[in-house]
Amino acid sequence: MDKDSFRRHGHEFIDWLADYFEHIESYPVKSPVKPGDILVHLPESAPEKGESMDEIFNDFKEIIMPGISHWQHPGWFAYFPANNSPASVLAELLTAGLGSQCMIWQTSPAAAELEERMMEWLRDLIGLPSHMTGVIQDTASTATLCALLSAREHLTNYAVNASGFTGPMSVYASAETHSSIEKGVKIAGFGKDKLRVIDTLNDMSMNPEALEAAIVSDLENGITPTCVIATLGTTSSMAMDPIELIAQICSKYNIWLHVDAAFAGTAAVCPEHRWFMKGVEKADSFVFNPHKWMLTNFDCSAYYVKDHDILLRTLSITPEYLKTKADNQVRNYRDWGIQLGRRFRALKLWFVLRNYGAEGIRKLVNDHIDAARHFAGLIESSDTFEILAPVNLSLVCFRYNPGTITEEQLLILNQSLLDKINDSGQVYLTHTSLKGKYAIRLSVGQRTTEKRHVEKVWELLQEAINSSGLV
Ligand SMILES: Cc1ncc(COP(=O)(O)O)c(C=O)c1O
Repeated sequence: MDKDSFRRHGHEFIDWLADYFEHIESYPVKSPVKPGDILVHLPESAPEKGESMDEIFNDFKEIIMPGISHWQHPGWFAYFPANNSPASVLAELLTAGLGSQCMIWQTSPAAAELEERMMEWLRDLIGLPSHMTGVIQDTASTATLCALLSAREHLTNYAVNASGFTGPMSVYASAETHSSIEKGVKIAGFGKDKLRVIDTLNDMSMNPEALEAAIVSDLENGITPTCVIATLGTTSSMAMDPIELIAQICSKYNIWLHVDAAFAGTAAVCPEHRWFMKGVEKADSFVFNPHKWMLTNFDCSAYYVKDHDILLRTLSITPEYLKTKADNQVRNYRDWGIQLGRRFRALKLWFVLRNYGAEGIRKLVNDHIDAARHFAGLIESSDTFEILAPVNLSLVCFRYNPGTITEEQLLILNQSLLDKINDSGQVYLTHTSLKGKYAIRLSVGQRTTEKRHVEKVWELLQEAINSSGLV
């Protein structure tokens, strides 16, 4: 592609994206395609001759767009948010253009130093203590794996890295923990059977008494308790594990405490919503995802540790070809995570934090929490709907329950209700199971979601009930 074509298509794509953002509500939030619908339009092998950008872009619009579920649609209430913002998108464009590989300071000094500063900005914004140092990971899953590896090595004086496991070591997390914890436990070699799944209380948070009992039982059986993973904002229902009590237990038994605040962490920018962070200053490690609720394109996960020497001793390997004269004066982030190669992720954070300011991010979070509370109020005002978990921050778990029907009938009824409102194309919600009850989740967090959008969900629910003989 010559430079004039690059310029022309670049302008065209930005125009297209600006229109996309402007008219996004005209797209169905959840893609209606069926499995295989996209694949049939894709040739089985790569073209022999290059094709024009006009042809490629046309196919993008014709073939790819119908198979996109629109995470940036204000009717996105599914799973969790992965919001972006114009500032972040433009930064990503520059990142792509620079094509920097930020594995060590020398390969991109500005990227390393910007990352260091951005992690300090974020740490202070969400009220983490100043002794914690941060690094950007691709995802919370990777950050949690780093925490598990660090816990393992710290406790064994780096012996597992040197010669493998010599005895069983266990990890603790609540029954509501994210699936990435089990994956991390398996990858780090603990064995899935060493993951202790701790019971939850009525509010779905980890039961500290059950945690302590599991630790004591392991000790009695010659198994070494290694790491507790507490969640602030569980994926199903936004439950908050009691960090302060859990930290006391970890300190009593000398266990690493990792806190997973992937979704909820962003809310800590608002001091009035920071209540759930009580005790995090005692954590050994902490992760939250600006790529969920902080206007920053996926992927960008902020991982903080109390003592970064442990992380470095756990992960650092320095082949001759990566040694530089600056090594003693700089941070080489390749030693702070799993992979060697790293994208320039700090740039989009810098753009977002400067463009919105702390004030803009606080407003976004407050507006979303208000919208979720407004929706919860609508549910509470109804005789036929019920809330199924405490409404923490921006997530509401609920179901339709007209009474006098069995749990099994309730499940079928609510599944069909969910399908109906999602088929409208105007909203997209997902479900979970809470203490055996089928629950519909409304997760608020897309940048342009307003109260009117949660009111639309309520309206669609009423329409679905009234129009379809669901009762
Ligand atoms: C509580 C929690 N932890 C971890 C994750 C995984 O995040 P990531 O996709 O960044 O690995 C999620 C994502 O939903 C989550 O909600």
